[in-house]
Amino acid sequence: MDPVLVEVSTGSRRYSIHIQYGLAARLGELVRNARVGSRTFIVSSPLVWRLHGRTVGRALTSSDPILIPDGERNKQLPTVARIYDALVHAQADRGSAIVAVGGGVIGDMAGFAAASYLRGIGLVHVPTTLLAQVDSAIGGKVGVNHPLGKNLIGAFYQPGLVAVDPALLSTLPRREFRAGLYEIVKYGMTASRMLFDRVSHDTKAIFNRDPDVLVPIIAESCALKAKVVSEDEREAGPRRVLNFGHTAGHALEAMTKYRRFRHGEAIAYGMLVAAEVAVARGALSDAARQALRRLIVELGPLPPIADLSTKEVLEAMRLDKKIVDGTLHYVLATDIGSWTIVSDVTEKELGKALRKVGFAP
Ligand SMILES: NC(=O)c1ccc[n+]([C@@H]2O[C@H](COP(=O)([O-])OP(=O)(O)OC[C@H]3O[C@@H](n4cnc5c(N)ncnc54)[C@H](O)[C@@H]3O)[C@@H](O)[C@H]2O)c1
Ligand SMILES: [Zn+2]
Repeated sequence: MDPVLVEVSTGSRRYSIHIQYGLAARLGELVRNARVGSRTFIVSSPLVWRLHGRTVGRALTSSDPILIPDGERNKQLPTVARIYDALVHAQADRGSAIVAVGGGVIGDMAGFAAASYLRGIGLVHVPTTLLAQVDSAIGGKVGVNHPLGKNLIGAFYQPGLVAVDPALLSTLPRREFRAGLYEIVKYGMTASRMLFDRVSHDTKAIFNRDPDVLVPIIAESCALKAKVVSEDEREAGPRRVLNFGHTAGHALEAMTKYRRFRHGEAIAYGMLVAAEVAVARGALSDAARQALRRLIVELGPLPPIADLSTKEVLEAMRLDKKIVDGTLHYVLATDIGSWTIVSDVTEKELGKALRKVGFAP
């Protein structure tokens, strides 16, 4: 299969996302052509490097990789400081670039290091989870958590290149893979009925990670995110569509201390809640809501929620960053493949929707 190229063009930068099965073997050539920097420093995690370091290391001449722990718990400033230490020791200068090889946690941390070391050096993303390939490696959000809150410290910093190799997903645990699929369902539900239908029809081949089916779905998702990000780099308008399912989803993650749900799993519930709100308002047909529910169940199982009270979820939602000046901007799907933003959703409506989805009264 030929590589698929998706262009991202934001106010601050223009770059390409290359998507191809087996692409990692050609990384050296891609990085050279993208002219991101004369010296490259790989940042990865011990696990990812053990699984894929041989392929990546062979393709890219670089000093020893900087290995830092991943997992949400480690997405903290002290971990990023380890990247700075290694760069300083190696006398990395402005002409250097970081190549982030890993999931969203590695990408966010390595990206933040690239944004801040010497006020900014080159950055390449080589995402290795499905979530990172279709979502976190695109769009330039980088950063870390604060002990008191997720993603509180960060920057917008666009990479010079994103190299997506779906072959790297062959080692990804099934649950991590499914977590990424829910974000793809989000793109389908808000922006592309074709994508939604493909995921619904080809579920089995997707789970088998069949390149012929998986690669086009990843490419379509990258294109959808790239388009939104190109229109709105800093999330002032159209980029908010990406928050579909994320209001309740973030609340669920926070109230269970990021332990019970993978991010995508929480978003799956959040999409179901948003669909109930939309149906109750007459904005979405019940048939469309059922199609979404069927697909989410098909991709399941999801962690249980029956012990989580509606009241607690509502409280957690109130603390969310998406509430600007006291107003909750809420994304509703209006059909499979279309959406709108409303700012008058009441707690009563949300409560009703949460109970319908199965949260305790
Ligand atoms: N920057 C953005 O725009 C953006 C968007 C969405 C999410 N995020 C962030 O992304 C993070 C979640 O990313 P994630 O879901 O990729 O989690 P992750 O980076 O923690 O990776 C999940 C697990 O998969 C392992 N792994 C990674 N690649 C693998 C592979 N190829 N084979 C086997 N195991 C592999 C990792 O070691 C880790 O244990 C969150 O911190 C979230 O805030 C950022
Ligand atoms: Zn998300």
